Amino acid sequence: MNVDMPVVGIDDLAIYVPKLYIDYKDFAQARGIDPQKLEYGIGIRKMAIADTNQDPACMAANACLKLMQKAHIHPQDVGRLYVATESALDESKALNSFVIGMLEQVYGEGSFEHAGGIECKFACVSGSYALHDNANWIRAEENSGKAAIVIVSDIAKYDLGSAGEYTQGAGAVALLIKEEPRLMAFDPKVASTVIKNEYDFYRPFGKETPLVNGGYSNLLYLIQVRKAFDAYKEKALKTGLVKLNEGEAITDHIDFFSVHLPYRRMGEKALAYLLRHEWRHLPRWKHVTKEIGMNEPQPKDPRGTIESILADTDFMKADEQFRRAFMQTSFYNETYEKKMASSLEASAQIGNLYTASMYMGLRSLLEFEFKKGTDLEGKRIGFGSYGSGSSAMVFSGIMQPTYKEIVKGLDLENDIGDRVKLSIDEYERLHRKEIDFNSAVTKAHKEFVLVKLGGSTADKAGFREYDYVS
Ligand code: CAA
Repeated sequence: MNVDMPVVGIDDLAIYVPKLYIDYKDFAQARGIDPQKLEYGIGIRKMAIADTNQDPACMAANACLKLMQKAHIHPQDVGRLYVATESALDESKALNSFVIGMLEQVYGEGSFEHAGGIECKFACVSGSYALHDNANWIRAEENSGKAAIVIVSDIAKYDLGSAGEYTQGAGAVALLIKEEPRLMAFDPKVASTVIKNEYDFYRPFGKETPLVNGGYSNLLYLIQVRKAFDAYKEKALKTGLVKLNEGEAITDHIDFFSVHLPYRRMGEKALAYLLRHEWRHLPRWKHVTKEIGMNEPQPKDPRGTIESILADTDFMKADEQFRRAFMQTSFYNETYEKKMASSLEASAQIGNLYTASMYMGLRSLLEFEFKKGTDLEGKRIGFGSYGSGSSAMVFSGIMQPTYKEIVKGLDLENDIGDRVKLSIDEYERLHRKEIDFNSAVTKAHKEFVLVKLGGSTADKAGFREYDYVS
């Protein structure tokens, strides 16, 4: 490890979640689904829904303003402001330009002029790329002592009546990236990625909702994260970040996991997939299979493609049975409760946030582990970020001695504020955009909202105007 390399990581974070939500029981009744499927099979209780006057830009600005106020950061302290999203508002104009416009209403016109930044896109993984590109900008000392802010902001919207509809949500997370961070320092030289041209989930130009191959996207997520994890492991061993003793797995050296969460259950399944991959060659595996009462099934062609494995129906069925049984074992459950459960709490209360979902998971992990009384100092958090299309990034970080300064004040319910439950009829009208943007359901308070859409003349067609409502 290069001892001269600056220690860089996440110094602080803030969230913004719209107050509107739909309840899973109302939703289940309206769609004729067993509510238990939503509560346990998917892991959702409330899905946050954006109001008529909210979009990914104002959610991002709201999260950013909260971050700057709580971390006592001023525009002159910020050298870069990146926004990662897959809910872009314009094919050319970057989302962060709207955000800068909003922030300058508070901090003064031109207050961010010295800074830079772009909008990043790669489905749900782009925020992780933004984080690392900015961390490296600081490590390279190109930052003139300034910090970077990365905001992940999205509205996850699927077709009415589709299987994706119960994996919706909305919100933003703003992350402050600095040298000598108070919260978590990234482990250096181990961030690892994989990338492949895929069509598991995509949204062609002009289409507001994605085209999804649900089952395939689930499997691809697992495979891509596992491949990135393999690359991470290789680097972690090579750089000496982790030393494995006899019978140990690298997962034993990761104290907590935070992974991409399109829905809560996906996190549980991702952990199961990773643990099976890391444990199956270790002595402990015979105790695991003994508890399960069956050996792990093998595909007809273990070196096959995803398609050939999916087509191997006997294997898929047996593997599904094994996976479910594995998730019932004491081995899995002990690891799950200790290392992942806290990161999934927010997902059940808010839903899918695309780019922001893994970072909301981190926020959730910190709050609920702290509330349990866990000492987080020096603990390693492993991240598994996935973006359809497709790319995965795995990286890790160490909780810093000063972490309590940030974590002690975290309170999800308080951060979201009083929520307003929508009837399914109101939700469907919002979804179909039948309510005018200036007839918002909630009353804005201390936040940015959209106040004007489009100009009076053709050359101002895409204009969006926002106001800060104090
Ligand atoms: N009680 C309890 N559980 C029940 C149940 C009941 N009555 N009925 C069904 N279930 C369980 C099922 O057993 C299943 O559990 P397991 O996953 O443990 O097997 C779970 O509920 C889901 O049920 P289905 O398998 O029937 O799946 P579905 O048809 O409801 O579809 C989905 C689920 C594929 C995730 C779908 O919601 C979807 O397409 N979502 C959008 C795509 C997506 O999120 N993909 C994830 C990876 S890609 C990605 O992550 C990028 C991104 O952000 C979009």
